[in-house]
Amino acid sequence: MVSADCLDHPVMPAHRYEQLVQSVVDYAIYMLDPTGHVVSWNAGAQRIKGYRADEVIGQHFSLFFTPQDCADGRPERLLRQALEQGVAQDEGWRVRKDGTQFWALAALDVIRDDQGQIVGLAKVTRDITDRRESALQLDAVRAQLFQAQKLEALGQLTGGLAHDFNNMLTIIISSARLALSTQDPARVQRMLQHILEAGQRGTELTQQLLSFARHRKLDVGSVAPADLVTATRGLLEHALPSSVVLEVQLQPDLPLIEVDAGQLQMVLLNLLFNARDAIAEHGRIGLVVDMVELDGDIDGLQGSFVRFKVEDNGEGIPAEVLPRIFEPFFTTKAFGKGTGLGLSQVYGFAKQSRGAICVESEAGRGTCMQLYLPMYQDQAHSPLDR
Ligand SMILES: Nc1ncnc2c1ncn2[C@@H]1O[C@H](COP(=O)(O)OP(=O)(O)OP(=O)(O)O)[C@@H](O)[C@H]1O
Ligand SMILES: [Mg+2]
Repeated sequence: MVSADCLDHPVMPAHRYEQLVQSVVDYAIYMLDPTGHVVSWNAGAQRIKGYRADEVIGQHFSLFFTPQDCADGRPERLLRQALEQGVAQDEGWRVRKDGTQFWALAALDVIRDDQGQIVGLAKVTRDITDRRESALQLDAVRAQLFQAQKLEALGQLTGGLAHDFNNMLTIIISSARLALSTQDPARVQRMLQHILEAGQRGTELTQQLLSFARHRKLDVGSVAPADLVTATRGLLEHALPSSVVLEVQLQPDLPLIEVDAGQLQMVLLNLLFNARDAIAEHGRIGLVVDMVELDGDIDGLQGSFVRFKVEDNGEGIPAEVLPRIFEPFFTTKAFGKGTGLGLSQVYGFAKQSRGAICVESEAGRGTCMQLYLPMYQDQAHSPLDR
């Protein structure tokens, strides 16, 4: 065992400490007497505050505070706290000799003699103006980013809503026009039915918006593809000009799919309206629904999927435009004609439903959009969709 006496305790002479404190230039290190008057001054204090030792020794340390802080009694408060509790810390503006201000991080520690009597206070101050400014800038950038993200989400939401309502209104207006121009009561009845359905879809949309606002999940359920296609076809019929033929082909015995039916209807309408817009005069739109087995070729999907294929023989999509069509707000349509949100909704829906959307197109020849949606898991206990 080594006795304590054998340990070497080097003691630094007082003048060495003085040298050490004096050579520190990044911190103002000085001593105050118990009443708050400056007793010593180092090189850092001179550099940070601008006063020479002979200018400040004997002065009250409130000299370094702003007039406002002095009026509020801040120096006295700090001193009192340090004397009572042994230490006081502070952060705030301080004034240099030339009147300029800096943001200080300061600590005030009581110094006692061997008998425990307070002989003074050690004051260490650091200029952290730069650090504070970068922190403030970072906060400002964060706030801006947050604001921008909020606006973007809001923009997408209102834009998306306007877009879907526009689709519904197209159906309502065209059906109303037809109803007004026909004498056939049965036809009028049919048109009114379409108007009613489109109106109901509008109500569902506002419900969706409300659920979004409350962060509720999509209304996912088992959906019979054939029923959905029939309903969509009914809505679409009067929004297509007579020069455009719609051919629907459904594979028999399609399985149920697991999606939000209202959203899927909007997706199909978006694809079909895009096909309609791509046809300049006469043309054909095909809607084919069948079942396919995927083995990872399409977005890594595997298993049984129901495929909705929307084909048109319209103008097609030029190769340089193709990579951008799913971007929100991307449109090649004239101002006021398209919001560029249709396909971004389709893309978002496909992803959220654990499916995929693929496009094949050639300028001048037409476009084929293929939407893959997963089969409802519990098919055994569900009736087949006939
Ligand atoms: N079937 C299609 N044939 C040719 N181009 C298409 C087809 N579908 C989409 N596009 C191109 O993709 C772009 C983006 O389509 P998207 O549905 O997202 O927006 P939009 O149709 O322009 O506007 P919105 O759907 O909001 O009315 C279209 O502007 C068009 O250039
Ligand atoms: Mg569109």
